[in-house]
Amino acid sequence: MTGVLDFTRIPHPSPATAAERDQVLAAPGFGKFFTDHMVTIDYTEGRGWHSPTVQPYAPLQLDPAAMVLHYGQAIFEGLKAYRQQDGSIASFRVTANADRLRASARRIAMPELPDDLFLASITELLAVDRDWVPAAGGEDSLYMRPFMISTEVGLGVRPSTEYRYLLIASPASAYFPRGVKPVSVWLSTEYVRAAPGGTGAAKFAGNYAASLVAQAQAADEGCDQVVWLDANERRYVEEMGGMNLFFVFGSGSSARLVTPELSGALLPGITRDSLLTLATDAGFAVEERKISTDEWREKAASGEITEVFACGTAAVITPVGTVKSAAGEFTIGDGESGEVTMALRDTLTGIQRGTFADTHGWMSTL
Ligand code: PLP
Ligand code: COI
Repeated sequence: MTGVLDFTRIPHPSPATAAERDQVLAAPGFGKFFTDHMVTIDYTEGRGWHSPTVQPYAPLQLDPAAMVLHYGQAIFEGLKAYRQQDGSIASFRVTANADRLRASARRIAMPELPDDLFLASITELLAVDRDWVPAAGGEDSLYMRPFMISTEVGLGVRPSTEYRYLLIASPASAYFPRGVKPVSVWLSTEYVRAAPGGTGAAKFAGNYAASLVAQAQAADEGCDQVVWLDANERRYVEEMGGMNLFFVFGSGSSARLVTPELSGALLPGITRDSLLTLATDAGFAVEERKISTDEWREKAASGEITEVFACGTAAVITPVGTVKSAAGEFTIGDGESGEVTMALRDTLTGIQRGTFADTHGWMSTL
């Protein structure tokens, strides 16, 4: 009998040439180019997960009545593969992404992909597309996007009985075109991203659809990103569109870090969780608690809040320079990148690229 981990491998008949790949890797941008292959694994109720396949990257054939197109059961993950100094490839906290995909699946009434299949999908894709991982020594990496959709054909509103998991990969440089330059943010009081009891803690496609109109509003206000507030009072900071937030109080060795507590409406970021550990290692006090927009504005004005940064897999660590809302605008510190922000960024990226000791066992060689 064929085990579920035996992938069928269908090589691309005409993969990108080395010259074509090098051209992409010279300036990949974010999410614009994809490697030669993708992984698919199907699920059928009663049969479970089956037919794992590595195949040429290509458009999907989907019935127009496939449930995902109507009722939106769609979840995803985001993680990166980093080229190490010795040419090997490693990724960061992969099992945390596998866990979170399962947690998202539970919330959206989808089947949980077993962790060994999640990990195998990554190793199988990298086995054929390793040359797409950007060179060591820079900021670039291979961004991997695992995702899952419902595929059963039918218009009744209920959980689908058929699903497809896919993994695609895209060479990536900085998420923000200006790199680590501070971003400006818009406090969204008109729209909310997620409410208590809703889907905010899941990496669910609908959360991102719900965010787009506010992101457009932020852009109209001249800001780079939206900051979401709690749905009930519109007072407490939750997160940004694809990043969690940290507030630095004080400076030097007495700096303290505050990040919004996991309210159930915000995504439990793996970078957020890692930084709570790395900041503690560095001797900073850390707190997970509610932080209001009033506290942010008042303590930025008094100089008690010295730095604010956003963090996530795609955005890494990006300083926040200016904050704008219907009530006005204020700046954090001198509006530039702060010391604590940049020190944590160096530590995190150093671990990911193998130039700092991985004392927590977060990296796995692929
Ligand atoms: N918040 C949202 C809404 C996100 O989409 C992401 C990105 O995955 C994050 C936070 C940061 O999560 P992580 O650090 O796991 O990438
Ligand atoms: C990530 O950081 O992996 C994200 O998913 C953020 C964004 C691209 C949606």
